Amino acid sequence: MAMEQETAERLVKEAIEVLRANDRGGWTIPAGHIYPHQWLWDSCFIAIGLRHVDIERAKLEIRSLLRGQWDNGMVPHIVFNNEPGYGRDRVSERGDLNPFAPSDVSTSGITQPPLIAEAVFMIGQKLKLPERRSWYKEVAGPLTRYHEWLYADRDPHKEGLALLLHPYESGLDNSPPWISELRKHSMPVWVSAVEKLRLDGFINLFRCDVKRKKLPPGQRITNTEALAFWSVMRRMQRKAYNTEAILSRSVFAVEDLAFNCIFIRGNECLRQIARTAGYELPKPLIENMERSKTAIEELFDEDRGLYYSRSFVTHKLIEEPTVASLLPLYSGAISKNHAAQLVSKLKDPDEFGLKWPVPSVPKTSGYFDPFKYWQGPTWVNTNWMIIDGLTKYGFGLEAKELEHETLRMVAKGGMYEYFSPLNAKPAGAADFSWTAALTIDLLKR
Ligand code: GLC
Repeated sequence: MAMEQETAERLVKEAIEVLRANDRGGWTIPAGHIYPHQWLWDSCFIAIGLRHVDIERAKLEIRSLLRGQWDNGMVPHIVFNNEPGYGRDRVSERGDLNPFAPSDVSTSGITQPPLIAEAVFMIGQKLKLPERRSWYKEVAGPLTRYHEWLYADRDPHKEGLALLLHPYESGLDNSPPWISELRKHSMPVWVSAVEKLRLDGFINLFRCDVKRKKLPPGQRITNTEALAFWSVMRRMQRKAYNTEAILSRSVFAVEDLAFNCIFIRGNECLRQIARTAGYELPKPLIENMERSKTAIEELFDEDRGLYYSRSFVTHKLIEEPTVASLLPLYSGAISKNHAAQLVSKLKDPDEFGLKWPVPSVPKTSGYFDPFKYWQGPTWVNTNWMIIDGLTKYGFGLEAKELEHETLRMVAKGGMYEYFSPLNAKPAGAADFSWTAALTIDLLKR
């Protein structure tokens, strides 16, 4: 089943070229034109790939990401490009409304999946012990403050699960649970009116993703959703990104499944980092970490045999199956029995077992569309996490198979943002950094 040597070498070469072209001198853009800034989890995936080709550059990717860290510990989802052409982007999110935002770089006011500990840990795995120790020592403090912030700010009821306030924080922007919550709880009247009157086509004139890269609008979030996302962000800005103030007036808050799986995994990485660095983690943080490990099982739905996100406000599971439903494998915190149930869903041809897996929503979902962003296409980053989870739970064969299919898909389609799960046709942005970086990682680890 191993990939031909020649193809593997070609892929690594192409991937390195993509990363080089997207390098902005110490940090990497996700893709030309459409994503010109530094994104949190993108840079983590990028660093995980870069560690195989240039370990110092991989460290730099993380250091540059941490330039954006706020005084309260929050790591923002975007550190903006400070070239003159991006002034409008920089003022669009107004992270600076919050007193904790840094004054020397522009950042967004929200976060993204906390994958930094994983990236730091994996970079360390490529270093000899003394260098590993000093690398871990360098970043243990900022990482600890970030995880402490996630609990202090985003887990006000001490449930062990972090809540998110904007779909962009999930990294899976238009994933069905977010769209369904948005439509239920956070659709401004004027946005519904625009939708009803079919005026939303007009918005294409202002859409950066559709305009900058001429992506077919059908692949991205709808204009109505884009307006609603914007309106949620405006509301957060009016409260200067103060979580307590935002929560006091809103019922739109989600305990996002993918985010929390990555958080739980990140906690484990942070513990190992601290151990190697001889860095003592605060006791309350360790207690919170322990709570998270058990809280994840509250998101399991026995009838459906899947995990779901949960509304922070109603405390009800949001019963929309997505690729996130399988990520508890990556968290490492679920029972073997539940892991086995997830694997059967992964293989089921009516659900996630499509020709080019793993689709971002199962075929049975009413949302399924093979080209629509996080509502159908296969993404390399979620495959990478599932491969890791399968290995961890002893499904070595399934992991190898998925790894092989993922690499074949990239070899066939190129370093694209996402792919149709039906025929591997590539879509979204070309020369996409995390596809390139994770291809390197899958081939070289
Ligand atoms: C999109 C993706 C998000 C990613 C960003 C930059 O918004 O949904 O996960 O971080 O693009 O690639």
